Amino acid sequence: MRLDKFLSERTPHSRSTVKKLISAGKITVNGSSAVKADMNVTENDSITVEGTPVRTARTLTLLLNKPAGFISATEDKAEKTVIDLLPEEFQNQNLAPAGRLDKDTTGFLILTNDGDLLHKLTSPKKHVPKYYSALLARPFTEEAAQQLSEGIKLRDGTLCKPAEAAAYSRDGRQVLISISEGKYHQVKRMMAAAGNHVEKLHRIGCGELLLPADLKEGECIVLSDNDLCKLLKSGTVFSALFQTLRKTSS
Ligand code: URA
Repeated sequence: MRLDKFLSERTPHSRSTVKKLISAGKITVNGSSAVKADMNVTENDSITVEGTPVRTARTLTLLLNKPAGFISATEDKAEKTVIDLLPEEFQNQNLAPAGRLDKDTTGFLILTNDGDLLHKLTSPKKHVPKYYSALLARPFTEEAAQQLSEGIKLRDGTLCKPAEAAAYSRDGRQVLISISEGKYHQVKRMMAAAGNHVEKLHRIGCGELLLPADLKEGECIVLSDNDLCKLLKSGTVFSALFQTLRKTSS
């Protein structure tokens, strides 16, 4: 495929921008500056744009607004899985959930066939923040917030990394919480260790990518390269999210 078409499908740049970048010597193919927009390239070529490698392989990444009642797996004999929710065209694309949401947890779930991305999102060494809204059985206390921010010890002795959490509803039972690891039932176990109980859990976002307000439960969207960049950012959006949640809850 022509280089300009190839890059316009895989980067945020249009074909005309790609042409300008080629003229400015900012695109390399297999280590040499590209000179022609119509040169032929394939997924086996190694391409950089302004020094950043381009993911040449055609991969697919979806963001699903997971409803309760579905498990985060690709197949199961007894339960409905998140794959069952996808439109026909995405059923046979080898998509797998990046991490798990419990059966009763709703919201932001990434499904991808990009092994590299899957690793980046699930590896314990990476610290991409994940944002949840939790409805608690009792008001969230200052003491609990302090315990979480210092790194709370779960009831089985597991020590968690520091987490940020704050109540945003008037009754103090609705809490925004950000964690940067993905232990089994982590939020529920953290809240239990802090003397509370999670009644409902909803994931709002990951990195700097949030669930779009108009994405209905059970629906999914295909993520662009721009979305993928936001997904992997570790910059915090906690304060902005907190303000939005506070406004909408009152
Ligand atoms: N923490 C939990 O307890 N459950 C989830 O589904 C996600 C995070």
